[in-house]
Amino acid sequence: MDFEKLACAHLRELTPYQSARRIGGHGHTFLNANEYYKSQLYFFNSTTLNRYPDCQPFDLLAAEADYVGLRPENVLISRGSDEAIGLIIRTFCEEGEGIAVAPPTYGVYAIFAKTNRAQVLEIPRGTDFSLNPEQIVQSVQQAPFKVKAIFIDSPANPLGTLFAKEDLITVLTKLPDTLVVLDQAYIEFAPDYSYAALVKEFPNLIVTRTLSKAFGLAGIRCGFTLARPEIISYLLKVIDPYPVPDPVAQIARQALARGGVELMQERVNEIVQRREELRGHLEKLPCVKEVFPSHANFLLVRFTDGPTVFESMVQKGIILRSFEDKPGLKNCIRITIGSAEELDEVMRTLTALQ
Ligand SMILES: Cc1ncc(COP(=O)(O)O)c(C=O)c1O
Repeated sequence: MDFEKLACAHLRELTPYQSARRIGGHGHTFLNANEYYKSQLYFFNSTTLNRYPDCQPFDLLAAEADYVGLRPENVLISRGSDEAIGLIIRTFCEEGEGIAVAPPTYGVYAIFAKTNRAQVLEIPRGTDFSLNPEQIVQSVQQAPFKVKAIFIDSPANPLGTLFAKEDLITVLTKLPDTLVVLDQAYIEFAPDYSYAALVKEFPNLIVTRTLSKAFGLAGIRCGFTLARPEIISYLLKVIDPYPVPDPVAQIARQALARGGVELMQERVNEIVQRREELRGHLEKLPCVKEVFPSHANFLLVRFTDGPTVFESMVQKGIILRSFEDKPGLKNCIRITIGSAEELDEVMRTLTALQ
């Protein structure tokens, strides 16, 4: 893959902003970044809050690399994986070029493309929502514009499905000059389907990850991009000078330490168990037509009358997510797997609606 040709032309010669942190320097008196000279310690137990953080704190790069089985130079840290999605589009799509998505899917891909004047190709799914790799290849080859990146979520939101490894390899192999962005925000709920190691083999693969789901840290906004170093270095030209606040890096490092990962895995087991219990209960309700298979922390449910169920739940103060207007998802509602008490309340309320 010719990384030079793939990135936007105006970025090829661009040197990223040389912040004081990026320039660095070994000294004892740092008067190079217009910072306050000492830490205030008002808000957070840190002695470094008066200083700008590193653009990419190395400890955290190393912790994520260790967690996913890659090297620090394969990792980029961003404000959630959402920021990574935007960065990929801004780095690789020239005006008139675009991305491919397979609706129903995570809505941010298309929105970020449109806000960056990139086009959006919609790849059709089968009637059972399956995503055929040959269909992806054919759609991209026949697109009326150049598709720079294909976004595939696995586990998918809201479908809950997985994209098979051999299908991913087919797309990567048959479209060697197109980036395939595999969004694995929910991968901890299906750990056997992490294809991060394929980054070593396929230069056109980008994997995105997040601490927002299984790690329970949506509030700190910390996500990761895993790719070849050449791709990471292009993304580093576009990213903000200081995207990772120091408290975020500290919390993220704790989450990725052994104790943090073990705690996350325990929570994942609980969520998966609760998800399947909820499925069993829902399937017995006459107002439920279908509960989709799920490899994530939610269930997508087709009701006989989705809008009425949704509104009735809102009246009781229970806010679910309606997918009424999304392709093929009429009457569908997504329910996040919360606490046992929250799910009991959902079931009690749904049962009373009958
Ligand atoms: C498939 C998918 N990707 C990415 C995200 C965004 O994650 P983050 O919090 O890391 O920005 C979400 C959030 O719901 C998602 O469902």
